[in-house]
Amino acid sequence: RIVHLADYRPTDFVLERVDLTFELDPTETKCTSRMLLHRRDGAAPDAPLVLDGDELTMSALLFDGMPMDAERFTEENDVLTIRDLPETDSFEITVETVINPEANTQLMGLYRTNGIYCTQCEAEGFRRITYFYDRPDVLCVYTVNIIADRQSCPLLLSNGNFLGGAGYGEGKHFAAWFDPHPKPSYLFALVAGDLGVVEDTFTTMSGREVALKIYVEHGKEPRATYAMDALKRSMKWDEEVFGREYDLDIFMVVAVSDFNMGAMENKGLNVFNDKYVLADPETATDADYANIEAIIAHEYFHNWTGNRITCRDWFQLCLKEGLTVYRDHEFSADQRSRAVKRIAEVRHLKSEQFPEDAGPLAHPVRPTKYREINNFYTTTVYEKGAEVTRMIATILGPDLFKAGMDLYFERHDGDAATVEDFVKCFEDASGRDLTQFSLWYHQAGTPLVSVSSSYDQANAAFTLSLEQIVPPTPGQAAKDPMHIPLCFGLLLPDGTEARPTSISGAEVAGDVLHLTERSQTVTFGGVPARPVVTLNRGFSAPVNLHFEQAPADLAHIARHDPDLFARWQALNDIALPSLVEAARSARSGADIAVNSLLTDTLIAIAGDETLEPAFRAQVLALPSESDIARELGSNNDPDAIRVGREAVLAFVAGEGASLFASLSDLHRTKVSFTPDADSAGRRALRNAALAYLTIAEDRPAQAAQASAAADNMTDLSAALTLLAHRFPEAPETQAALETFRARFAENALVLDKWFAIQATIPGEAALGRVQHLMQSPHFNASNPNRVRALVGTFAFSNPTGFNRADGEGYRFLASQILEIDPKNPQLAARILTSMRSWRSLEAVRREHALNALRRIAAGEKLSADVSDIVERMLNG
Ligand code: ARG
Ligand code: ZN
Repeated sequence: RIVHLADYRPTDFVLERVDLTFELDPTETKCTSRMLLHRRDGAAPDAPLVLDGDELTMSALLFDGMPMDAERFTEENDVLTIRDLPETDSFEITVETVINPEANTQLMGLYRTNGIYCTQCEAEGFRRITYFYDRPDVLCVYTVNIIADRQSCPLLLSNGNFLGGAGYGEGKHFAAWFDPHPKPSYLFALVAGDLGVVEDTFTTMSGREVALKIYVEHGKEPRATYAMDALKRSMKWDEEVFGREYDLDIFMVVAVSDFNMGAMENKGLNVFNDKYVLADPETATDADYANIEAIIAHEYFHNWTGNRITCRDWFQLCLKEGLTVYRDHEFSADQRSRAVKRIAEVRHLKSEQFPEDAGPLAHPVRPTKYREINNFYTTTVYEKGAEVTRMIATILGPDLFKAGMDLYFERHDGDAATVEDFVKCFEDASGRDLTQFSLWYHQAGTPLVSVSSSYDQANAAFTLSLEQIVPPTPGQAAKDPMHIPLCFGLLLPDGTEARPTSISGAEVAGDVLHLTERSQTVTFGGVPARPVVTLNRGFSAPVNLHFEQAPADLAHIARHDPDLFARWQALNDIALPSLVEAARSARSGADIAVNSLLTDTLIAIAGDETLEPAFRAQVLALPSESDIARELGSNNDPDAIRVGREAVLAFVAGEGASLFASLSDLHRTKVSFTPDADSAGRRALRNAALAYLTIAEDRPAQAAQASAAADNMTDLSAALTLLAHRFPEAPETQAALETFRARFAENALVLDKWFAIQATIPGEAALGRVQHLMQSPHFNASNPNRVRALVGTFAFSNPTGFNRADGEGYRFLASQILEIDPKNPQLAARILTSMRSWRSLEAVRREHALNALRRIAAGEKLSADVSDIVERMLNG
């Protein structure tokens, strides 16, 4: 069944309120839902009430408190249809269901994890609890009563404010919660169990005190203090930057260890994958800290962008997700180094979203049809959605963007809104027509902007010729030209920026060039010398740029651009062609030559003490194997890509040996660990240097020493990764891996790192290693984090290991998908997307991949999740 945006229509009945009562039991939980409804104005007088369900057992159905006549309702194909309902009066429907949380391995609806009852309702999990209008445009107030065993469930939580609690018969107790803010069912949450808590308070800008609570497993409380700190900073930031204040007496976060995704923004009761809550220096890396900060902020920011203003239907998912990712990006940029944050975002966008947009799973930020909505929680909706919001900010400038946001909050508070509503706020606030811009929501595919330039000395005129092409994507063959905002600068030979006296051929406002036509020629007058143009500064538009700039010009940008991001990008633009060339040479057996300009510039910047260490570390991280594959585009041989890249790395390592030796040693004086961005940057630079040093020496000694000396997880995992990836069979590596395993055997999140490090050891032997690790007593096929750490990491992040020329990697993945799917379809479907770029492989691998996909497609009783992905992968 395919759902189409064009088919949207409101429900026939209005839900005024709902009272839910849960009598919790591991295998037989009773849920009683009392709904107060009335027929919507204008709805047909005989229209039935049609409610969604999913694998439900209904034990009672009442109308105004009386059992419903059997002929008035039908229950079939997960739909409950009730007829003969009042034409105008309000009435009450009570649905009683019995659910088995213990058997819920999908982790959607109400389930149990480590003895904790917990829920995940977005997108369509609430219908696994009771028959309901399980759609985001049906908002109402909820009262929730929870009854449970007092001993095993001292804690009974739901959305909103706590009303009260008391004993309830033998060994039981109950608690009641009321959420005064109308909400859709996907924001419902219930948590019950025995957990420890970290508590704090936050005083809002209007002076209200909010109780903050983070619930974690007993004993893990000290590891939740960073998340608490991040939460308070998020609350403050949202008041200062977006004027948004929290609106309940209490804000709770619960960390659970079995969770399908990162976290969930349920009103007042966020549920988190514990990976994004728990951290201390001994067990969490700097990247973990940064993720916790970002995700705590993300879920908190949803309180306004998602909860107070929600989505009319799931096609509007980017309305809350793209906007909220934009908001969490801005938050992290303000808390950390903006340039370094932007570099990390762009790396992520290019490595995840660009391949999606270029392959069979490409879809618009605002899709128009779906088969399984869970498959649209994609990097396109999230990250490209955030970029689209960023472009609105770029086009309007900070003041008008803020005015548009304010208008959005004012106009739509309490609404289930659409992307059109959102865009209209910016049009109304700015007076600017955003019709063409809106194509970013509707046209899939990464635009390609081709650029050439010329300089006319006699007339002091500089000309840029730009042309845009939006590539065809599944279901969208022809595209219209987009409105592409390109931030730019014209760098003069002395490193200063030209100030043109005239501009013609395009709208240029401040440092933004608006490309709106298929091709445009822009002339800048009064440019005293041939400038080097730096285009798409800050990655103002998510496009591929083809601009044959001379390496010397790029080096000029890399050394002098006032925008740090542009400097990184220029270096990238020097490095990528070299790496592509190296891969081609490796493929054809030719000698690999490395451009010394690349090495010189790289080493100069890495050694520049005036630059922040985090930036220098980013510069040292050359484009990845998958970046190179993407640049090559088709007929890829991952082995050749790796050989070529390794040769370039070795050359850089040799040229920069003395710098790397000193950097890897630098700041090694023992200072106690702090997770702040500056300290993290110093660790990143030192570990990047250690990697090059190890490559140059080609011996495990330094890395083994670093692993032994490490007093925090960042340094330890960096050293261990280096050992494992470079010297997998060395005794030092085996010893270090075993020490690590023994030391952290009781810590699931750290063991995930142990699995992931080994799953990403490059080369043919990787598959055998992964299969061996699946036999380890530490492997747990029902824990999503563990499955992702081993199977997911192997498929997503080990190009040479996974893409074995004999196809064994794909065959392994196919059997894994078929095995995971019956238990947890969302997890299976997500891991399967690792094959989204299969068409760009060389012919032999492509054939193997095709066969593996066909084998999955032929699987019996495939979930909608997996069959949707596999079919789009085969047909797109
Ligand atoms: N809304 C959550 C977030 O972005 C993610 C929920 C994902 N749900 C799903 N079914 N995939 O914070
Ligand atoms: Zn979100």
